[in-house]
Amino acid sequence: MRKISLSYGSKFGLVLVSFLFFMFFSLSYAQTTPKGDTTKAAAPAKLKYMGALSCKMCHNLEKTTGKQYDIWAASKHAMAYKDLAGDKAKEVAKAKGIEDPQKSDKCLKCHITGFGASAAEKGPKYNMAEGVGCEACHGPGEKYKDMKIMKDPKLAKENGMIMPGEKECKVCHNPDSPTYKEFKFADAMKVIAHPIPKKTK
Ligand code: HEC
Ligand code: HEC
Ligand code: HEC
Ligand code: HEC
Repeated sequence: MRKISLSYGSKFGLVLVSFLFFMFFSLSYAQTTPKGDTTKAAAPAKLKYMGALSCKMCHNLEKTTGKQYDIWAASKHAMAYKDLAGDKAKEVAKAKGIEDPQKSDKCLKCHITGFGASAAEKGPKYNMAEGVGCEACHGPGEKYKDMKIMKDPKLAKENGMIMPGEKECKVCHNPDSPTYKEFKFADAMKVIAHPIPKKTK
């Protein structure tokens, strides 16, 4: 870039360099935003959390999409809110001076889907009693849950779908959890596996 400003005169060079910088940053912004991570993509668009029942109709089919709903419903994630009413939770809460863990942000933070979402960001089937639901990991489903979008993973991502990795798990699986157990991503992934069956055509 120095060479440019030397040969064309410093003013023009400066303009050119600023222009290139501008292009570079706007392009990289445009490229990263739609793929988005939870905070960047979901927040400004204000997508609604639709509830796990909105996914069930298509994601509980043995032979095609798979039984993700039943697998999830039998998992600890589906118990995350209900378990806050149990004895263990009360004991953990009491030690922190918390009266009712099901009403405390200090616990709900990691035990429900879409913690902190406003009323406008909750669809009619949103229910915090579902605990850590599909959308806690895959992002609010308002836009991506339509068949024509869902069938195309790239389009789905542009419409708020997240394929989570270790980083997304650690938003909750970290030492801020009062009952924290060391989080081993590969092992934990085996426990929550809910694959699409291999196509047998
Ligand atoms: C109208 C039916 C329908 C609904 C409703 C639906 N899905 Fe899907 N979903 C599909 C189909 C079809 C696929 C593609 C399956 C395949 O690749 O064989 C898919 C794929 C996915 C994938 C994998 C995408 C990838 O990149 O491989 C995820 C994750 C997913 N859905 C999550 C959800 C969640 C969460 C909800 C609820 C908010 C939901 N879906 C609602 C039909 C649906
Ligand atoms: C929104 C917060 C949140 C996110 C995100 C999250 N989890 Fe969890 N997870 C929990 C909570 C809360 C529990 C405990 C629920 C209970 O037992 O009531 C849990 C429990 C589990 C368990 C069972 C642990 C046990 O001791 O039996 C596994 C395995 C697990 N999570 C894996 C994962 C993986 C893998 C990811 C990322 C792909 C993930 N979790 C993302 C909150 C979360
Ligand atoms: C930073 C996220 C986070 C916060 C905040 C949090 N939890 Fe959890 N909680 C988890 C995760 C993740 C698990 C599952 C794995 C673990 O214990 O590390 C869990 C598991 C539990 C369990 C099941 C433990 C077991 O051994 O069966 C109870 C009970 C519980 N939490 C109660 C609470 C209470 C009560 C609060 C509020 C005082 C709270 N949690 C706050 C993330 C959190
Ligand atoms: C604790 C986080 C978590 C929850 C809750 C969760 N998922 Fe997933 N899901 C994942 C992760 C991580 C993957 C990617 C697995 C991989 O890369 O192999 C995934 C993959 C998928 C896939 C693609 C599977 C494949 O074989 O390609 C579908 C479809 C899906 N999830 C649907 C759902 C539905 C529907 C629900 C609720 C009923 C749900 N998920 C709940 C974390 C979660």
